[in-house]
Amino acid sequence: MRRKLVAGNWKMNGTRATLAELDAIAAAAADRPGVDVAVAVPFTLVMAAAERVPTLSIGAQDVHAADAGAHTGCISAAQVRDAGATFTIVGHSERRADQGETDADVRAKAGAARRNGLTVILCVGETLAERDAGRAEAVVTAQLAGSLPEGATADWLSVAYEPVWAIGTGRTPTIADVAAMHGAIRAELRRSIGNEADAVRLLYGGSVTADNAAGLLAAGDVDGALVGGASLTAAKFVPIIEAA
Ligand code: PGA
Repeated sequence: MRRKLVAGNWKMNGTRATLAELDAIAAAAADRPGVDVAVAVPFTLVMAAAERVPTLSIGAQDVHAADAGAHTGCISAAQVRDAGATFTIVGHSERRADQGETDADVRAKAGAARRNGLTVILCVGETLAERDAGRAEAVVTAQLAGSLPEGATADWLSVAYEPVWAIGTGRTPTIADVAAMHGAIRAELRRSIGNEADAVRLLYGGSVTADNAAGLLAAGDVDGALVGGASLTAAKFVPIIEAA
């Protein structure tokens, strides 16, 4: 049985004042021990968040592939771990698009996170043009094959399917499309890591809200959600935890 995981991604939002939202999120998580809850905050808030809500998993949204060195402006997995993070997102489509991250970059970042004791949410997803061209599954499974570190195991890896066109748009794929893609991702994982694939949690992300969470979370092979906009306030995020 795979435990459900509901992870928030605050992106480039939030200052210290926003941390108050975590109090109610942590309380809701504590009331629901059957669900894992995590929030990826901006680097600037990792330490304060981890200290404020020690029972909640606090994570980063990215890490550098190297453990240390001459990389001005970058943050390593060792540093976010030291600040109190337990996990990181890697390969988010906004980083793939805005920072030009390749599958090889994402694989190296996932490896760095693993090496430094962080668990990883590895993101994959197709653009609307790719879906319209009938290439969604091919694109997503190729991204996964290229981004997945060798010998990945379910105790530190989750995969998030996030169609680029569903992120922040209010649009979501049909439940059937989500289930089909998650099935394809599971099959690709089996090719790469064998039976271990059955224990890896597959999250859906892209315009998850209190209204659509229950349906999406009940879809085949959906083991949780990666939530952007609706994770910024407890009022919007807690109902998603409840749905899980
Ligand atoms: P959204 O973002 O929930 O705001 O669509 C999801 C994500 O990018 O992780």
